[in-house]
Order: sequence, then C-alpha cells, then structure tokens
Amino acid sequence: MAVNAAKHGVKTLGVIGSGQMGLGIAFVAAVKAQVPKVLLCDASPAQLKKGVAFFDKLLAKDVSKGKLTQEEADAAKARLHPVDGIPALKLSSDDSPQMVIEAATESLAVKQKIFGSLASTLPLSTILATNTSSISVTKIAASAIAENAKAGSEDAIEGPKRVLGLHFFNPVPVMKLVELIPALQTSKDIVDRAHAFAEACGKTVTHSTDVPGFVSNRLLMPFINEAIMTLEKGISSKEDIDTCLRFGMGHPMGPLALADFIGLDTCLYIMETMYRETCDSKYRPSVLLGRMVDAGWYGKKSGKGFYDYPSDTRV
Ligand code: CAA
Repeated sequence: MAVNAAKHGVKTLGVIGSGQMGLGIAFVAAVKAQVPKVLLCDASPAQLKKGVAFFDKLLAKDVSKGKLTQEEADAAKARLHPVDGIPALKLSSDDSPQMVIEAATESLAVKQKIFGSLASTLPLSTILATNTSSISVTKIAASAIAENAKAGSEDAIEGPKRVLGLHFFNPVPVMKLVELIPALQTSKDIVDRAHAFAEACGKTVTHSTDVPGFVSNRLLMPFINEAIMTLEKGISSKEDIDTCLRFGMGHPMGPLALADFIGLDTCLYIMETMYRETCDSKYRPSVLLGRMVDAGWYGKKSGKGFYDYPSDTRV
C-alpha cells in the first residue's frame, strides 16, 4: 500500500458526490494514495455515470502523457466502485469505509442530512470529512449523530468527534493543497489520521481554525469580489483586470476568469456566508455578482459568466 497508509489506516474510502470535486478526490485517492477500495457515491445515476467517464478520461490522459503506465491506470480503475447511495457504503456488517469525504452541494441543510445519515449507517470509528468551502464544520459535526442515539449518550457525544473539514481545490488532481479544518468537537487522533491521508493523496496540508472562509477563502474571495467591484465601477475592462493579475503578479488565471471557473453562485454563497457570520462590511458581496447569479450566469458550468464558454470546453 502507498506511503502513510499505516498512519491513516484507510483501506476503503467513501466519497459522496461525483461532481468535479468528488470525482477529483476519488481520483487522487485511487491513483496517488492507492486506497484499495474507493466507493464513489451519488444519488443521481446520470451524474455517477458522468463522474466515472471523467475518471476514465483523466486516466487515459495520464497514460498518453506517460505519467501512468497502462497497468497502473488499470489498477487505479479497478479500485473505483460506483455506489448509488449512503446505505451502499456499508458493504457488509464487518466491512465499511474507514473514512468518508463528502463533496455534495454547498448547502448546510444538504450536508446536515448527509452527515446524519452517515452517522446512522457507519460505525463511530469512521472518519467523516466535509469538503465544504465555507460552511461551519462545527455545525456540520453537530449533525453527525445517529438517528437512534439518545441525547447525552456516548454515541451522541462521540459522533461529532470524528468529523472535520478536508478542503480540496479545483482541479483536485492539479492543485497541491488541502486545507484541514478541525471542528470544535474533533479529536486530535482524527486530525492526525486525516492529515496523513491528505499527504498520501500527494497534497501539502495546512490547518485552519473553523472560521468563515477558513484561510483560503478569507483571502481569495475578497480578492475576487474586489475585482468584480473594479469592473462594476468601470475602472477597467474584464480583460485588462485579468491581464493585470496574470502578467503583473504571475497568477495562472485572472480573478474574473477564476470566479467563472469556481462558479459565480459558489463565490456569492461564500461571500454571503462570510458577511453574515462576521457582520464585517469588507465581506459584502458585489451587487454585480448577485445580479449575474440572478440571471443564471454561473460561469464556466452554465456556459456564461464574465466570459462565454462553448459547450465543448465544459467538463
Ligand atoms: N481536472 C483535472 N485536470 C485538469 C482540469 C480538470 N478540470 N483542468 C485542467 N487540468 C489539467 C490539465 O489536464 C493539465 O494537465 P497536464 O499537466 O497533465 O497536461 C494541467 O491541468 C494544465 O492544464 P492546461 O494546460 O489545459 O491549462 P492551464 O495551464 O491553463 O492550467 C489550470 C489550467 C490548472 C486550471 C490553471 O489555470 C490554474 O491553476 N488556475 C487556477 C486554479 C485555482 O486557483 N483553483 C482553486 C480555485 S478555489 C477552490 O477550488 C476552492 C474554493 O473553495 C473556492
């Protein structure tokens, strides 16, 4: 087994959500960490199919570029197992994942439901991680209590201790960072094992307290928001704003192109969370950002944002 396996102890990993993020996490777990069984879970069969097809595409690209041999790609593919719902993560009474990473829609209600269901399905020993980019990990952890656990029982107290944030970045196979966010309730051994797991996935790990936006989005989102306000005020064109940061500061993408790449709805959601939870005016979302989301212009995924994206350029 790959490096650090003894430290993290993950032989079976569950990944909830087979969109860009979930699929990317499943990919690095199968290819880099070489976790023997990666259960990719999505409630939508169509999305699951799309996710598996993208996994195959990434493997084929790595083989064509000489980054993987065909044998290595075949072995990675054999580690991936699509499953259609949370109950299917428990393979048998004595075989269930040692860790599950949730990468579902960025909505507290959705995540609370998933974590309640994970806690009811899987043993207390399963590490439960969320890939949230802004929601309070402490709030999510508080929902990781089995349905039948009585208030104040050991299950109700222990359940939230195995929850933490593992924040990956898009595109997951390319971006080298994972931000680790312990909830208020998380126990130290869970943090150490999750850190070792993220390293086994080939990532550098930084730690952040559970504050709105953590470190990454506390810095990135006001930067993107300021670029949108710069456009909104007519100070410069979108192209010049992006060129300024690309050629002046060496960013791989300008902030407006990056906002399109992340998703304008996601950027707005994160800004709103930071603004609401801190009541600090420096996090006030740009009006233009709100209007673009009102229009359904979500960026690359919807075909239109600050720039236009023909369907063949979208994943
Ligand atoms: N999935 C997997 N791999 C992808 C990919 C995707 N969606 N998109 C691009 N890549 C890979 C390409 O296959 C290529 O791989 P090889 O080196 O093996 O050929 C590599 O990335 C470079 O791609 P390209 O040559 O096509 O294009 P590029 O050089 O312009 O790079 C980029 C594209 C990697 C996206 C680069 O522009 C970049 O780093 N942009 C910044 C991305 C960023 O900041 N991400 C973080 C967003 S914030 C976030 O995710 C968290 C949050 O909470 C909001």
